[in-house]
Amino acid sequence: MNKKFEELAKKNAEALLGGGQKRIESQHKKGKLTARERIHFLMDEGTFEEIGMLVQHRSNDFGLEKEKYLGDGVVTGYGNVNGRLTYVFSQDFTVFGGSLSETHAEKICKIMDLAMKNGAPVIGLNDSGGARIQEGVVSLGGYADIFYRNVRSSGVIPQLSAIMGPCAGGAVYSPAMTDFILMVENTSYMFVTGPNVVKTVTHEEVTSEELGGALTHASKSGVTHFACANEVEAINYVKTLLSYIPQNCEEDAPSLPYQEGNEKRPQLNSIIPDNANQPYDIREVIESVIDENSFFEVHKLFAENIVVGFARLAGRSIGIVANQPAVLAGVLDIHSSTKAARFVRFCDSFNIPLLVFEDVPGFLPGTDQEWNAIITNGAKLLYAFSEATVPRITVITRKAYGGAYDVMNSKHIGADMNYAWPSAEIAVMGAKGAAEIIFKNEIAAAKDKDSKWKEKEAEYQNMFANPYRAAERGFIDEVIKPEDTRIKLIRAFKMLENKVDKLPRKKHGNIPL
Ligand code: HXC
Repeated sequence: MNKKFEELAKKNAEALLGGGQKRIESQHKKGKLTARERIHFLMDEGTFEEIGMLVQHRSNDFGLEKEKYLGDGVVTGYGNVNGRLTYVFSQDFTVFGGSLSETHAEKICKIMDLAMKNGAPVIGLNDSGGARIQEGVVSLGGYADIFYRNVRSSGVIPQLSAIMGPCAGGAVYSPAMTDFILMVENTSYMFVTGPNVVKTVTHEEVTSEELGGALTHASKSGVTHFACANEVEAINYVKTLLSYIPQNCEEDAPSLPYQEGNEKRPQLNSIIPDNANQPYDIREVIESVIDENSFFEVHKLFAENIVVGFARLAGRSIGIVANQPAVLAGVLDIHSSTKAARFVRFCDSFNIPLLVFEDVPGFLPGTDQEWNAIITNGAKLLYAFSEATVPRITVITRKAYGGAYDVMNSKHIGADMNYAWPSAEIAVMGAKGAAEIIFKNEIAAAKDKDSKWKEKEAEYQNMFANPYRAAERGFIDEVIKPEDTRIKLIRAFKMLENKVDKLPRKKHGNIPL
């Protein structure tokens, strides 16, 4: 029997070495961890159980039959992250550059199937040269098997992708269909076609980092939600993200214990500047309302005119969507609409209540926005809020102008509670523009056009630049002092805790993509 145990031990030891010590060293020299080291940082100590450690590829072309590695370039299994069941696959760059073979794909699919059946998140740690070139179409088939499962799992279990090396060609589409992407600065990149092809086709000269590095995708394309300084930070972000979200769409996110205390926040009373056109940082409002240090911002560097992220309120996980008056006056544009829409849909998929802070002067005008379809893209946010059935609350801090008033989780599109601060201005447009249009003739006929304009602007301002017209109609449930916002929200979300709301029976809606 001892001999048999020895054989097992030998095989396991061989599998642990992946593509061999030399390649492990080369991985470290690049500033990267190995597939197993990453899992070690992710999972609670001693909880990881590997599945398929002895799997080998089946290819006999190009001499591959002579080059086999146990595990075939991906470490897969399950374990606990902060005590909760989590599935993981971690690509091993030391084996054929982490490239995806038929068997490599089968291992990932097995994990995804188990995760679906058992209702737990899947974390993908990606570090791969793409399709295993020697295998041809079976590798492409393997990718498609994963894509298919990504879509089937979407909205059922959370799927997170950390990109920790190359991720190119069609391979990018698996992470793209997961809920959140995290990238590591300087050692990871994502692109459909690399710098060489770009140069040939468009004559642009660009490095991998510029074309598809973490900061590029975090700020320019929005493909990644997080740009992390290093791999350990990325793994810690994965853990933090998981702490705000439930295991699957049938469960609630974990809550922390909470005891009602003094919930007044007087600092909120002085955040809004006297001049309505002055900027302020909406994060100050968010931080003052939520549980201390609980804000976990998502997509921080992308479309900064809207802020989204997770937080806790009285220990419960919530999703926050907030216009940011400090950037472009908090205007809604194409990117901010799609950023927020995607976040709203994630929260709604996973039973995370939504809190909206609104200070928005409207949609951004201009040919760039119109020609790039602000109509379709703005509609995404409107659609996302309208279909969300989770508890939804809005607080209007200042401007709620035009169509943006409707879009930003108004009562009319299904918000459960709508609050406004006394500084709220709920109107079709700003007083200056409104006066120019509706009093055009009077202003034109006046001797002193400027002072007439100012007079009419003030008239409009007095009539509409307040929350009371909306409150008279019940569009606003209560006008509250800023310092009472936290307690009002805690009580309202508690009141909505058992909310039941269902969409009409349908196959699926047709969100304007
Ligand atoms: C097989 C691969 C491989 C691949 C790398 N290797 N990519 N083996 N299939 N796709 C192997 C290399 O031969 C090498 O083996 C080892 O992995 C490390 O690769 P290096 O080139 O030495 O590493 P590095 O210099 O860091 O460069 C990494 C790389 C480069 C940028 C990823 O290897 C590369 O360009 N690979 C090809 C990428 C590619 O074109 N993939 C196919 C894309 S199409 P040894 O034995 O020396 O250690 C695609 C379609 C997906 O993915 C479609 C889905 C729908």
